[in-house]
Parts: sequence; structure tokens; C-alpha cells
Amino acid sequence: TDLGITAVAFSGGQAKLGVDIGPKELIKAGLLTSLSEDLEYTLHWDRLVHAYPDLLPAHDPRVDNMLTPLSVSAVTKRLSEQVYDHAIQGRLTLTLGGDHSIAMGSVFGSAKAIHERTGKKLGLIWVDAHADINTPATSGSGNIHGMPVAFLAGIAKHPLFAWMQDQVVGKRGVIDTSRIVYIGLRDVDKGEKRILREEGIRAFSMHDVDRHGIGKVVDMALDYLRDEEGDTGPLYLSFDVDALDPSFAAATGTPVRGGLTLREGDFICECIHETGNLVGVDLVEVNPVEDRSGGAIAEETVRNAVSLVRCALGESLL
Ligand code: ARG
Ligand code: MN
Ligand code: MN
Ligand code: MN
Repeated sequence: TDLGITAVAFSGGQAKLGVDIGPKELIKAGLLTSLSEDLEYTLHWDRLVHAYPDLLPAHDPRVDNMLTPLSVSAVTKRLSEQVYDHAIQGRLTLTLGGDHSIAMGSVFGSAKAIHERTGKKLGLIWVDAHADINTPATSGSGNIHGMPVAFLAGIAKHPLFAWMQDQVVGKRGVIDTSRIVYIGLRDVDKGEKRILREEGIRAFSMHDVDRHGIGKVVDMALDYLRDEEGDTGPLYLSFDVDALDPSFAAATGTPVRGGLTLREGDFICECIHETGNLVGVDLVEVNPVEDRSGGAIAEETVRNAVSLVRCALGESLL
């Protein structure tokens, strides 16, 4: 299988430095060699970890409560084109972040290409401690990594992100709210809860994982996306490493206690792979600098993130 890789050293969707070196660490840990050697993918990678220096303006003040909006918009627009170029050729895509704002680009590019190729709408599985569905108006932090789902769904719109409106695949945005499903939520802001409720978006929190077990939750999540024939349609997995419990992934900018075990995370990824309908994956928010232990925690987070991606791309236990 052809795999189109984009490595994105971008941290402008939030305030902490270090998440931009996530991709380099994932690659150094052997992620890509294992995908080509063990899982036998044909890799399409430009061998670059993109920092897009030419796209970052020197002056990027807050606009309508969004922090560094010009940087985020320019980088995600460019990334959307990179992912589109892979996906339009029928490649599975893998995007390594970087903070979660980059999903505005990766998911957009994938959704656009899939729609052009197949006429189908993308289903988005967002595995995260957070819902990342704030609008500029509801966000308490102004960090755009807390807003990508709102922009992708067209719940949030802004002239600085006009490029996202050029190609409307769904009714409002590039992803229909009815084709979004969350797993792992446990830190959702008040305004986000209202949006999830008003939009009727399907979300499985850690409470649901505790109640039903991860097996049932993944079944319910995938069943929700299935049509009458039982087809899930094309699936995009956007995995924020902070969905994992901090005991497995502490090297991240916004860790939240009470998360998924590594096996639960791997299991989600394995099941999505098993559908045969996966078209794109993000792995984001690995921040090796968020480690006050002298390296062991960062190393563990990177190792577990590598495991998640390998499982999503077909590594199986037997
Ligand atoms: N909800 C908070 C905010 O809007 C936290 C978002 C964290 N997002 C993330 N991708 N880690 O700022
Ligand atoms: Mn998160
Ligand atoms: Mn919060
Ligand atoms: Mn996130």
C-alpha cells in the first residue's frame, strides 16, 4: 500500500514550545522504517520535517481571540495541499504533528480529495481528552489547537480562514457534524459541551469507556458511522496523544488524568484499521520538552505514540 507522509513541525496552535519537535522524535524512534520494513508500506515522503519558515509572519497578533491566526491559517492551508496531493493519488495519508491545529489542514485536504475521487464524505474519528470544538468566541485560551473541529465542521468561520470555505464538501464545512465521532473525552469546556449538545455530535467520554469497555465503545462508534449496508465509508483518524492517560503519555502540552491505557488506544487504532476503510491518520501533540524527568517520560510518550500509529496502519498482535 502507498503511504503519503507529511511531517509538520508546528506549534503555533498553542503556546508551549517543543510540540514542533514531535515528528522528528517519532521518526528518530523508527516509526517510518517500521512502517516500510515491518508493515511493508511504500512510503512517499519528501524526507523533510516542514517548519514552513517562509509562511510565518513576523507579526501575528491576536485576532478575534485567536492566537497567531496568520501562522495557523498559512500553515494549515499549505498542509491541506500536501495531504490533498497524496490523497488524490489514492495514497493512505499519515500526518505527524505538531499541535492539533494542523488537523485543520490534514483533514481538509483528505476530505476534499476523497470527495473528488469517490463522491463520498469523510467520517472523522477524533480520539482526544479534549473536544477541540471551541469557536473563537467560546475559547477561553485563544489557542487554535482547541478549535480545529469547529472550523472543519463549519461551526466556526473566519475571514482569516477563508480558504476553508472555498471547497465546501458538506452542508456547512468540509466535515458534516453527523460524521464526527469522539472517543476518550474528559476535559470539555462549557461552551464546547453546548456545541456538542446543540449539534447532536456523537461523543464517547471516558465515562462511556468505563461503563461499556473499550470494545463496545469502538463498536458503537463505528456502527454510528455505518450506512444501511453496514459500510462505514472512508474514515479519518485524528489521534491526539493526550487521549492516553499521562502514565502512558505525559510528554504533551495539556495532559489530563483519567485517560486511555496504551492498550485501549492501540485497540481503537486496530479496530479502525480492520474496517479496511481508513484513508488518513494524524498523530499529534507529542511534546518531548514537556518532560521534567530528564528524558524518560518523553521517550515513553514517543514510544507509545509510535505504537498507536503502527496499530492504525495494521500492526496486529498475531
Ligand atoms: N479546551 C482547551 C482550549 O480550548 C484545551 C484544548 C486542548 N487541545 C489540544 N489539542 N490538546 O484551549
Ligand atoms: Mn487533547
Ligand atoms: Mn479545560
Ligand atoms: Mn486535540
